[in-house]
Amino acid sequence: MQLVSTIEQLRATVTEWRRAGLRIGFVPTMGNLHNGHLELVRRARQQADRVVVSIFVNPLQFDRAADLDAYPRTLEQDCERLGDLAELVFTPTPALMYPHGQQQQTKVSVPGVSEVLEGALRPGHFDGVSTVVCKLFNLVQPDLACFGEKDYQQLALIRKMTADLNLPVEIIGVPTVRADDGLALSSRNGYLTEAERAQAPELAATMNWLAERLAAGERDLERLAADGRTRLDNAGFRTDGIDMVDADTLTELTEHSRAVVILMAAFLGKARLIDNQVVAL
Ligand code: PAF
Repeated sequence: MQLVSTIEQLRATVTEWRRAGLRIGFVPTMGNLHNGHLELVRRARQQADRVVVSIFVNPLQFDRAADLDAYPRTLEQDCERLGDLAELVFTPTPALMYPHGQQQQTKVSVPGVSEVLEGALRPGHFDGVSTVVCKLFNLVQPDLACFGEKDYQQLALIRKMTADLNLPVEIIGVPTVRADDGLALSSRNGYLTEAERAQAPELAATMNWLAERLAAGERDLERLAADGRTRLDNAGFRTDGIDMVDADTLTELTEHSRAVVILMAAFLGKARLIDNQVVAL
């Protein structure tokens, strides 16, 4: 595996691959890789001849400097985990990605999807995500890119950006990888104490309970969300949001909605855990 930290090196390798007619798969990450990330890389492997993984803790998508500083940086361990799964790992610095500083950086903003739900709670977060992913697409020039379905709104954002800007990249959503007890794998699980880790599967259990009630025909969404909140709060969580919206538009359900997505966010100690499930209507 080649570890590359300059745009020139990255472009030279990618150009060679393209000349050879090879299909390039891409997985953007912020590092601290776990099995969920490796699943994205395996999926890219299945559909491409060469795989590029980027590891970049993107300052533009953090709304609090303390969270950016605390984000785990584990490059050596990440490279070991990747092993032969990727041909190239791109590790740019903030100065390389934003040479004129964050304020002077041209931004990509996706209307609608970036402003609702998580976007309303964290203004600017999704602009930071779409900007960095657009830049990375331009640098890596992949044929396909894999993103986790765990970050449901992020995946919707990337799909819309790619379509709106006619970027020639196929976006592949990869199902959430879960621990045996149901907890969705996430870098944030690393913030859980042993006791909190034992409580954490209740988030997915509560989500499944709400999904079953929706599938059984219940449609009082306020009631469902309130019941979910009570169950989580009783289990030691601090519920941050339970939203049930149209799975395609992320807006209120209408008579035309074909599926609903349940979006869960809750604090357990220092960790803000998220999960989601789509239920057909
Ligand atoms: O999902 C993430 O890890 C990040 O938001 C991404 C897509 C790598 C952009 O920084």
